[in-house]
Amino acid sequence: MLSQHEYGAEKSRDFEAMRAAPTDRRAGPPVEIRPSPSLRLGDKAPDFEQDSTQGPIHLYEWMGGSWAVLFSHPSDFTPVCTTELGMVARLKPEFDKRNVKAIGLSVDPLSYHDMWARDIAETQGVELNFPLLADADRKVAVLYDMIHPNAHATETVRSVFIIDPNKTVRLLHTYPASTGRNFDEVLRVIDSLQLTDDLQVATPVNWNLGDDVVILTSVRNQEADKLFPQGYKELKPYLRITPQPSR
Ligand code: BEZ
Repeated sequence: MLSQHEYGAEKSRDFEAMRAAPTDRRAGPPVEIRPSPSLRLGDKAPDFEQDSTQGPIHLYEWMGGSWAVLFSHPSDFTPVCTTELGMVARLKPEFDKRNVKAIGLSVDPLSYHDMWARDIAETQGVELNFPLLADADRKVAVLYDMIHPNAHATETVRSVFIIDPNKTVRLLHTYPASTGRNFDEVLRVIDSLQLTDDLQVATPVNWNLGDDVVILTSVRNQEADKLFPQGYKELKPYLRITPQPSR
């Protein structure tokens, strides 16, 4: 019987061999990767259709009226990514509460994703309960500028896009391959965006749901008295702190 270490090493060698000689027809021919203009906050999220572990996905249709968290990771059968996908699956109730759908991406074919999903369930104790795009032709990776050639020639970096129901990009962040992301931070930003979209407030440093917020400088004191009946502390004319109002 192989030790866990030997098993992992063997699996990783098999995987490297598969990557060197892909046989999955759905992987398609290699495509030339041309630099795409970077997306910026406030831009329309590019729509796409791509294969996934839950069947073909047309982004806009799939989102419907939900928010989306689209995130890429470097490749299948890698340790950090395995823990990230397990965490996103475990956080599904938190995403659901906020009307958010998660969707992952790597530039590996569906057959690899399906095999890897079994490992994720086994090691992370949770089934992959959100779609993982099989972006073997790198269509979405190029569209969203997820390949940073000076970091790695072909693999995607750890990109995160929060997209609102109007299909507008509301957050971009990019992490290096060796650093797993903090998905509590992604939820925290969603909480902040959903709150500040509805109310004339912003959320200060290290804010978490339920903490005090700051009143927008565009709101005059007379209006603030009406909008924030719980009152506020004016430390400076531009720095007024109030208990978090409900949405
Ligand atoms: C990982 O997911 O474990 C990983 C991927 C690429 C480089 C380093 C780590």
